[in-house]
Amino acid sequence: MIPTSDDGKRAYDLDRAYVFHSWSAQAALDPMVIAGGSGTRVWDHDGNEFLDFSSQLVNVNIGHQHPAVRDAIKAQADVLTTVAPAHANLARGEAARRILDRAGAGFSKVFFTNGGADANENAIRMARLYTGRDKVLSMYRSYHGNTGAAVVATGDWRRVPNEYARGHVHFFGPFSYRSEFWSSSPAEESERALHHLRRVIQSEGAASIAAILIETIPGTAGVLVPPPGYLAGVRALADEFGIVLIFDEVMAGFGRTGDWFAFQSLAEDGATVVPDLITFAKGVNSGYVPVGGVIISPAIAAAFDETVFPGGLTYSGHPLAMASIVGALDAMETEGIVANAKRVGADVIGPGLRALQAKHPSIIGEVRGLGVFWALDLVADPETREPVAPSVIGALKKALLSLGLLPFFADNRLHVVPPCVVTDEEVARALDLYDQAFSSL
Ligand SMILES: Cc1ncc(COP(=O)(O)O)c(C=O)c1O
Repeated sequence: MIPTSDDGKRAYDLDRAYVFHSWSAQAALDPMVIAGGSGTRVWDHDGNEFLDFSSQLVNVNIGHQHPAVRDAIKAQADVLTTVAPAHANLARGEAARRILDRAGAGFSKVFFTNGGADANENAIRMARLYTGRDKVLSMYRSYHGNTGAAVVATGDWRRVPNEYARGHVHFFGPFSYRSEFWSSSPAEESERALHHLRRVIQSEGAASIAAILIETIPGTAGVLVPPPGYLAGVRALADEFGIVLIFDEVMAGFGRTGDWFAFQSLAEDGATVVPDLITFAKGVNSGYVPVGGVIISPAIAAAFDETVFPGGLTYSGHPLAMASIVGALDAMETEGIVANAKRVGADVIGPGLRALQAKHPSIIGEVRGLGVFWALDLVADPETREPVAPSVIGALKKALLSLGLLPFFADNRLHVVPPCVVTDEEVARALDLYDQAFSSL
């Protein structure tokens, strides 16, 4: 989409001339220029406005330009824009306390990083030092970030050209719609996936395994909500074999599922499965300033009371990021933003997407998700569940953009991931635009 206004053209030309983009062959890129945003909307320099149902990279949970977060960053900038991690700083302590309040029982400290990948990097390091073991088990259907160990812990295609770190083993998690285990019910899928994980642990040698690292709800892999009993079963295996359990909540955390954390949304019969470490980034401050971190259990934190933790970052606990966390978490609480995500998911998005599937059953194979975290699995044939061709995804994307909706696609899936502040009216409008786009195929 080549802009027409002077500013739009200039933004586009500068980008094409000088900016090197992620995960792409550079020559054919045609980036959309975004000039500004507010709430669930973004716009370009040419006067075109879009409903942002991507939340960018599924991180703008509080919506664009929330005044509480913007003002918190401005106020901190007037006081102290940077400080070394070794010093204490009020904004950092306030941010850590708020994160721990929301994580609940089982956690006592926060280590701040620059984003999600280095959160996983440091969680893996903690698990290895804590257990004295080195292997990390993670799922094939996963993304954990783009740094040394995090990208090798990743299961998807992005691991393969980056596979230099050692000690990583992958396994299949549960996914009833495309079961690796020939299961015929979620209960069977859960049981068989747990049996498979037990066999992987035994075959690798339990005494060599430091951590099981899983996305509580694998996100980019397709919003794969685990079946009942699965997380509890993984927790039991980790306990049985003395393995540290890490939940990667980088995408699923801080409101996306309608609770502060996805593991809280997945509590069964009032029982919450609590990991030893939680990694976070994205929604904690909606990405207004880059930040991430590791939420640490008392036992693992205590292991470094007398022993040096051999890790650190110049910008760990950066004050602008810390102020933005305080601003974001306070506003999310006082404005009921997490509760809104839960309600809108259960009452509007879920029923709306299922109605859309009923209208377009030949292409929408499955609707899954919760809160503001949904995926439509798009198929060429609902019987065989063969994924739609990339050309269909291309056509849908083009149609949605021309209708004024910024979508999020991953492989053969349309992810429906608006900010947590999305209104019922905005969801209704998005559902209408999705319907028009599917009808145009
Ligand atoms: C589950 C998960 N973990 C880790 C990451 C990496 O985070 P970052 O890009 O901030 O390094 C992502 C990014 O999409 C993610 O979705």
